[in-house]
Amino acid sequence: SNENPSKRGHFIVIEGLDRSGKTTQCQMLCEDIGGLDKEFKYIKFPDRITPTGQVINAYLQGEAEHSDETMHLLFSANRWEAVQGILRDLKAGHTIVVDRYAFSGAVYSAAKENPHLSLEWCWNPDIGLPQPDLVLFLDISSEDAAKRGGYGEERYEKQDMQVKVRTLFKRLFARLPNLSVKVIDAGLSMEDVADQIWQAYKELDEAGSPSEELQVLP
Ligand code: TMP
Repeated sequence: SNENPSKRGHFIVIEGLDRSGKTTQCQMLCEDIGGLDKEFKYIKFPDRITPTGQVINAYLQGEAEHSDETMHLLFSANRWEAVQGILRDLKAGHTIVVDRYAFSGAVYSAAKENPHLSLEWCWNPDIGLPQPDLVLFLDISSEDAAKRGGYGEERYEKQDMQVKVRTLFKRLFARLPNLSVKVIDAGLSMEDVADQIWQAYKELDEAGSPSEELQVLP
């Protein structure tokens, strides 16, 4: 149990391409954290349940059309509306595992064929969101990702899009030197990926509690 309940929880984000195994790995990490008798919370963006999330879901499934800019800002709003809950849970000592965050937000929009959506423009609305203590980037080539049963039916699950997304993830992380990013080879077996994630979690946990004051995305 929590030896020092005044310490805030860890804020961990898992990012990657579609079919990189993110969601499975988030679940495995949560189970392992729970196994240590620690409180955790799992969050997934987009959260398709909220009003913004319902619009996003319809768009992703091809049931509704909106401008690229509108969609971009809705994805960002879908994160902003979760901030109070995130801060409250971290303060209560719960570790939060997040499946996609502002990084997906910026790179998926910037990968579109729309000159207005530069990486910089796309990053801007997420500036000021709570900054994760650790980002685990599940890196996989789009070919290997596609081999995993092929992409699904959703809007961005196409190989040329995924190639751009992967390049943009790397460019974005290179622009954020104060962010703690660990790149993990997601082409490895599920167990090996889980082991590496667990190693990274333990390093974060053993490095002592993160600063009480959460940083924000620059
Ligand atoms: P999901 O498959 O993880 O539910 O994500 C749905 C799609 O939405 C996925 O292709 C990535 C994309 N996406 C964005 O375009 N912007 C965002 O801000 C987020 C969180 C996801």
